[in-house]
Amino acid sequence: MDNGLPKHVAIIMDGNGRWAEQRQMPRFAGHRAGVETVRAIVKESARLGIEALTLFAFSTENWRRPRPEVNFLMDLFMSALDQELDELHRRNVRFRVIGDLDGFSRKLRSAIERGVTLTAGNDGLTLVIAVNYGGRWDITQAMRKLGTRIRDGQLAPEEVTLDHIHAELCLNDLPEPDLFIRTGGEHRISNYLLWQLAYTELYFCDCLWPDFDIIQFQRALESYGRRQRRFGMTGLQVEANQGSGALQEMQSGL
Ligand code: IPE
Ligand code: IPE
Ligand code: MG
Repeated sequence: MDNGLPKHVAIIMDGNGRWAEQRQMPRFAGHRAGVETVRAIVKESARLGIEALTLFAFSTENWRRPRPEVNFLMDLFMSALDQELDELHRRNVRFRVIGDLDGFSRKLRSAIERGVTLTAGNDGLTLVIAVNYGGRWDITQAMRKLGTRIRDGQLAPEEVTLDHIHAELCLNDLPEPDLFIRTGGEHRISNYLLWQLAYTELYFCDCLWPDFDIIQFQRALESYGRRQRRFGMTGLQVEANQGSGALQEMQSGL
């Protein structure tokens, strides 16, 4: 049943640095404060019954930042994992990570693996953290896998469909993101889920990530609830199809 709630919310958590700078604090302080927001939004998403929440924590381009900031972000991710995992597990959250993990230390990779294994059987909120993730990286890794299948004779080039590509991309087993939120005032995608956001509703807010709270989150959800998703059809067609499940089929067939 469609309750007006997005099944999958994908967020770019932006504005930590500016939040700290406004307070004459080092950027690190903003990242640390941002973890509190993550905790609150994860808890609220689980409470609301949202199926999946994907959070952009570190992009393939963020390596360009000053080394101390990159190191701090890695350490913060590691310590947040350590601290939050048991609580996530208790809340029945299924924890996942997407991104190129080859760029990470062995210690961090095994902490991630431990978290994924511990929570694999949970059937509440699926929490996906995108780290060392880039939409272009995602498409590239999918093409490599597809190319290998073609080379090995499992698939002919002319047989390649949208479904084959979809199947090799990250998040392929989750509903496509219904709602995208970017905090921090910038109106761009910054190489987030390029393929997956094809028909996602976009929501931008000026609020810096450490200031984002469940009231702001509610505003984004309400904005989503007021929108008419047409997937290429006319408004009249959408109204005629409402409640028939046809729209959902349309979306999953994109
Ligand atoms: C988002 O906040 C966190 C990461 C990119 C890791 P920023 O660090 O980009 O904060 P601003 O945009 O500089 O304020
Ligand atoms: C996007 O934020 C990446 C994350 C939030 C992890 P950035 O702050 O890196 O994006 P740009 O550089 O302003 O586009
Ligand atoms: Mg930023």
